[in-house]
Amino acid sequence: MSIHKGRFITFEGIDGAGKTTHMDALEQAWQQAGREVVRTREPGGTPLAEKLRGLFLHDAMDPLTEALLVFAARRDHIQTVIQPALARGAWVLCDRFTDATFAYQGGGRGFDQTVLSTLEGWVQDGLQPDLTLLFDLDPAIAAARLSAARQPDRFEAQDQAFFERVRGAYLARQQAQPARFAVIHADQTQADVAAQIQLALAQRGLL
Ligand SMILES: Nc1ncnc2c1ncn2[C@@H]1O[C@H](COP(=O)(O)OP(=O)(O)O)[C@@H](O)[C@H]1O
Ligand SMILES: [Mg+2]
Repeated sequence: MSIHKGRFITFEGIDGAGKTTHMDALEQAWQQAGREVVRTREPGGTPLAEKLRGLFLHDAMDPLTEALLVFAARRDHIQTVIQPALARGAWVLCDRFTDATFAYQGGGRGFDQTVLSTLEGWVQDGLQPDLTLLFDLDPAIAAARLSAARQPDRFEAQDQAFFERVRGAYLARQQAQPARFAVIHADQTQADVAAQIQLALAQRGLL
């Protein structure tokens, strides 16, 4: 188990579920409260990992290459951004983390979850989020929310069945580690979603 001074909170769920909207709100509220907030994302969050993100999102590759790339990016991100921030007491808000790998590469693509678990163990060396907010939403509603103007990447261009598998794999991950997760019912109004998040944070002493 890792021990750190800060707090590590990850935001998960398919595109259009509301992650960015509510990360913006929390980042602002916590900065106003005088906390150091580190807002970051995966894949990415460092110059090297952002380069890997570009390859990951736009270049065709086999599933093992895809898994290795995302965990390589994660390793750099943890070592150069997340761990130092947690060590100095910052609150780290991360848009997607390892649960997304299990959801997209595992659930969506059908890649071997035991290989992902092995990579998770090597790369994270015990680090897990203190809380994962899982924005659960019907993919049809998510698709309707996303602007038509947005250019889809390799994942966003997948069909409904892919996102149904992603959603199922996210929920399976939550059922396997229920204490780490709060499931947010993201089909509610923005105000209701914000209230669910506040409750989840309050229950864990994270307000
Ligand atoms: N509860 C909600 N109800 C309706 N629309 C929402 C809600 N939350 C966010 N949106 C809108 O849906 C779109 C996707 O939200 P966003 O926060 O970008 O999701 P994500 O970061 O998970 O892809 C945005 O246009 C946002 O304004
Ligand atoms: Mg977003």
